[in-house]
Amino acid sequence: MSVGAYFSGKRIWIIGASAGIGAELARALARQGAELVLSARSREALTALADELRAATPDVSVRVEPLDLADRASLAGVVDRLAHAAPFDAVICTAALYDPARVADLDPKKVDAMVRVNLLGTLDVARLCPPRIIDGGQLVLFGSVAGYFGLPGGQPYSATKAAINNLAETLAAELAPRLRVRLVCPGFVRTRLTEKNDFHMPAAISPEEAAEAVLRGLQKRGFEIHFPRRFTYIIKLLRALPYAISLRLTRRIG
Ligand SMILES: NC(=O)c1ccc[n+]([C@@H]2O[C@H](COP(=O)([O-])OP(=O)(O)OC[C@H]3O[C@@H](n4cnc5c(N)ncnc54)[C@H](OP(=O)(O)O)[C@@H]3O)[C@@H](O)[C@H]2O)c1
Repeated sequence: MSVGAYFSGKRIWIIGASAGIGAELARALARQGAELVLSARSREALTALADELRAATPDVSVRVEPLDLADRASLAGVVDRLAHAAPFDAVICTAALYDPARVADLDPKKVDAMVRVNLLGTLDVARLCPPRIIDGGQLVLFGSVAGYFGLPGGQPYSATKAAINNLAETLAAELAPRLRVRLVCPGFVRTRLTEKNDFHMPAAISPEEAAEAVLRGLQKRGFEIHFPRRFTYIIKLLRALPYAISLRLTRRIG
């Protein structure tokens, strides 16, 4: 299904735009005529993407603003620079690190990096970006189905994503009615993030399909955008079961 012309002329900042779902969102939004600011750590990847977008759509407005969510001053510096530009219709933060393991096998340095970027970095986005969004605009955070229930072998990634799901619930109340906060919870999407998975990913979809699902969701009014539903509803059901049943089921996976 096409996402229509809803995003034409809208100013959208994507943090996490250099790869995966964020890059596909940028491609789809550029085709729709959105004005884009693209952020992630890799200036090279962002510049290559911006060049690609300009080649495909010569009148597209795209600006590259590299930043590292692990460094609070880096995000604050970009927010300051963008204070002179028109405010955004939406800020979308897809940035995250993924290196899950069983708790006993965790590397403390990787744990620190994931908590820093996925949780504290997203909290910084939630603190610093809302003043740069227009009244009625959207703050879009990426949680995950992984945050619905703690599965074996998924830490600390899944704990950081559970925290984002929770953070978005808080923000939806705190920022209403001026802003709409949207929580995106994908199932498995085939990106560089999941290419390290050595197990079958049920109902896995492409980043293009994920971006389309996100953009369709952003045009509707609900709080959560979750997909593909044939997978997300199963994990929602697991979460709704009494622990006596759900933990018996997840012990079998472990
Ligand atoms: N793929 C899935 O199956 C799946 C499932 C559920 C939820 N999600 C969530 O969906 C979002 C996007 O995932 P994806 O699969 O598209 O991942 P991806 O392909 O690895 O892309 C992640 C993006 O985040 C950026 N990033 C990482 N660390 C950063 C940092 N410190 N500062 C700024 N940017 C940073 C990366 O760019 P640089 O490396 O250039 O910084 C990249 O642009 C994530 O929040 C993820 O948790 C994904």
